[in-house]
Amino acid sequence: MGSSIPAFYQKDRRGRLDALRAAAGLDDEDIATLESAGGITFGEADAMIENAVGTFSSPLGIATNFVVNGSDVLVPMVIEESSVVAAASKGAKAARAAGGFVAEAGAPHVIGQIQVVGAVAGDAESRVAAGTQRILDAANAKSRTLAAMGRGARSVSCRRITADDGEQLVVELVVDSGEAMGANITNSMCEAAAPIVEELTGGRVLLRILSNYSEQRTVRVTATFRGNDASTVDDMLLAYQLAKHDTYRAVTHNKGIMNGIVAVASAMGQDVRAIEAAAHAYASRGGSYSSLTAWSKNADGNLAGSLEVPLGVGTVGGISKIHPTVRVCAKIMHATSASGLACIIGSAGLAQNYAAMHALVTTGIQAGHMRLHAKNLAIAAGATLGQASDIAEQMIRESDISEARARQILGS
Ligand code: MEV
Repeated sequence: MGSSIPAFYQKDRRGRLDALRAAAGLDDEDIATLESAGGITFGEADAMIENAVGTFSSPLGIATNFVVNGSDVLVPMVIEESSVVAAASKGAKAARAAGGFVAEAGAPHVIGQIQVVGAVAGDAESRVAAGTQRILDAANAKSRTLAAMGRGARSVSCRRITADDGEQLVVELVVDSGEAMGANITNSMCEAAAPIVEELTGGRVLLRILSNYSEQRTVRVTATFRGNDASTVDDMLLAYQLAKHDTYRAVTHNKGIMNGIVAVASAMGQDVRAIEAAAHAYASRGGSYSSLTAWSKNADGNLAGSLEVPLGVGTVGGISKIHPTVRVCAKIMHATSASGLACIIGSAGLAQNYAAMHALVTTGIQAGHMRLHAKNLAIAAGATLGQASDIAEQMIRESDISEARARQILGS
């Protein structure tokens, strides 16, 4: 499957779908799913959440040019912000020239926390250590599937926390969740192990829940980006320094990275709140909030970028097998393993960061962004879909891209 589809963005919807069908091996049913409005029926929505009253669609686009660990991959992105899909494709193209992204995902280990309060025994740690097998057996009884795959709860440890009004104990289970994100099974395992933990520690178990700080699932992505003159490379390094050393810039810099990560994760039906929470905690691991990426110049004068971010994602469980569009997105990406998916998501984050920094130090972000946003502004001003393109073109010609100008053109 080739991910460099010439002039993909210039094709109409039919042309893009035909190219996608050919490149990703989609069938008629997949194409019909992509053509449907949002992919889920009201019945499916009603089964997913409480008090459902409808469904809510967002744009689904395909970022091109990605090569991840030597394989071409087309990357579906769900996002409402213009420029993000174009930026990812542009970043991937600059990386492609030097072989693409090299990525590695950490083990799918989830931490489950069992909080113990009250009169915890002084020797609670050694009692928990002696009772490890009982705890693991109770936890693993919750998933025959994981156990059969040689996965499941692996280890138990304790930490004392100094709280405002005394000490608490946290007993932590490490669960190998295999191809799943693992939240539900980890929570069930914590609940199953809790009575044994109470008995061993003498305290009272309160919370029994996973930690979304999935540090062990950190993905490391690197790439070299070609095609920049020496001054652009140097300016991008200066831009990176600000993100590295200033929290105000780091938040925006990382927001751009999350544009890529969250868009791909959303297309794959992942829990993006968990991903965001873990990413920002990871960005603060040095004691102050900083850039998730690191940038340097290699011996050839090209930019070398790396991204480290925890990505607790799965290819089974959640809505991965329920949401029809997610199923097609998985097929487009050939995402059959959680680690492979994490590598692609991380690559999208690094590509996005490259493209944002490049735009910021050259033309500025607004030039491309506002061109793409012009149609939205025309529609917001009351233009029909038929009128929007012409109004957008006129505003771009006039270099006056605003809802007010769109309203004027509509009224004239
Ligand atoms: C906009 O959604 C993202 C950027 O602000 C990221 C950045 O500033 O690096 C362009």
